[in-house]
Amino acid sequence: MMKIRRRAVDPAVMISCCYFLLVVIIIGGADFCNGGVTSRFVRRLQESPDMPLDSDVFRVPPGYNAPQQVHITQGDHEGKAMIVSWVTMEEPGSSTVTFWTQTGKKKSANGRATSYHYYTYRSGYIHHCTLRRLEHSTKYYYEVGTGGNTTRQFWFKTPPEVGPDVPFTFGLIADLGQTHDSNDTLTHYENNPMGGQTVLFAGDLSYADRYPNHDNVRWDTWGRFVERSTAYQPWIWVTGNHEIDYAPEIGETEPFKPFTHRYHVPHKASNSTSPHWYSVKIASAYVIVLSSYSAYGKYTPQTQWLQKELSNVDRSETPWLIVLMHSPWYNSYDHHYMEGETMRVMYEPLLVQYRVDLVFAGHVHAYERSERVSNIAYRIVSGGCRPVEDDNAPVYITIGDGGNSEGLVTDMTEPQPEYSAYREASFGHATLSIKNRTHAFYNWHRNQDGYNVVADSVWFHNRIWLLND
Ligand SMILES: [Fe+2]
Repeated sequence: MMKIRRRAVDPAVMISCCYFLLVVIIIGGADFCNGGVTSRFVRRLQESPDMPLDSDVFRVPPGYNAPQQVHITQGDHEGKAMIVSWVTMEEPGSSTVTFWTQTGKKKSANGRATSYHYYTYRSGYIHHCTLRRLEHSTKYYYEVGTGGNTTRQFWFKTPPEVGPDVPFTFGLIADLGQTHDSNDTLTHYENNPMGGQTVLFAGDLSYADRYPNHDNVRWDTWGRFVERSTAYQPWIWVTGNHEIDYAPEIGETEPFKPFTHRYHVPHKASNSTSPHWYSVKIASAYVIVLSSYSAYGKYTPQTQWLQKELSNVDRSETPWLIVLMHSPWYNSYDHHYMEGETMRVMYEPLLVQYRVDLVFAGHVHAYERSERVSNIAYRIVSGGCRPVEDDNAPVYITIGDGGNSEGLVTDMTEPQPEYSAYREASFGHATLSIKNRTHAFYNWHRNQDGYNVVADSVWFHNRIWLLND
């Protein structure tokens, strides 16, 4: 039986495992605790429908042609630019953003508006404006709708200058949707005392495609729902399967049409030719976004880009190498089982070679954290095919538990595979708090508890700077 040596194990996990062993011995059982922890903590299983259209979280801001669905994301590779996006419904209005610091003069930047049709739906005017030459670690106030009919003001804080020991806290959310559970997840993230500064969002935003003809009104409601966070801190976007919106039966054959019109990302800054794969540097982290639903075979643009990208990462500048994707490679739930396998076969050797620290994915509507394992020795002629302990491998975390209308998945493969360290079918979110080049503290919070309750937490040691600790 393969023995996986555990590293950086949470004391709570060790206590739980020891307790389980004790119980097994007491009842005369003959097996060992051969996997990690499967939490049976499931307080609520029923699916939750989307919040009604007249919910207060979807309220249209007052005023003629008022900007709505405001969201920001990092606008360059280094964190000195911010893309501000919003929608006006009645008329194009102005694409100008005015921005200022508490002590500085007002500046303005001009953006552009776009729109699209989807079957019988016609979008509002979607504005994207990049604010450049910003100072690091600075609070900026900004106003959208400038020169138009109704203006609205927001603020954000730019990330600190990139450096190896710069602390930074990320929020981790995926598969959010727009149910009451989604609302709980977002509220818990907002109230999390860890204080997330940027959200790494691992795909599946609105779930509008679950409605007849992919009713894109639900893209608009989602944009208004999350504005209370997305207008104030950057969300780093990943495309999931619910962003594909491919519906040839109604003549919609352009994949990702609503997403790519509504959510701009700085892919050109990392020499990517597609908004579906790109990278950003944030504080001491290098974040690589991959697309589970774009071509990733050999010779494809995404593969060529990833190979070059990984070789360019300077871990003395950004020690923490984080990869985001939608479909997980290591998933011991029944749902979406092995959907990420073909991408794993293609990309896992690269991620191990370059000692990626952490891989976050969504898609499976539950939570799971892996041990550090790899499965790259497999050759079809030799047949060996099992994940093995690998200090150079990332930890894989599935965080597809945002709370959408498809509900939780609860069926798991049994027994728990040895590579699976912790799994639980509850909604929630996580935070990753990087302390310096060697240590990062990670927490997963389930929704049903108070804001301070942590269900799974672990210290991560950097794969370059503390590999053998
Ligand atoms: Fe998904």
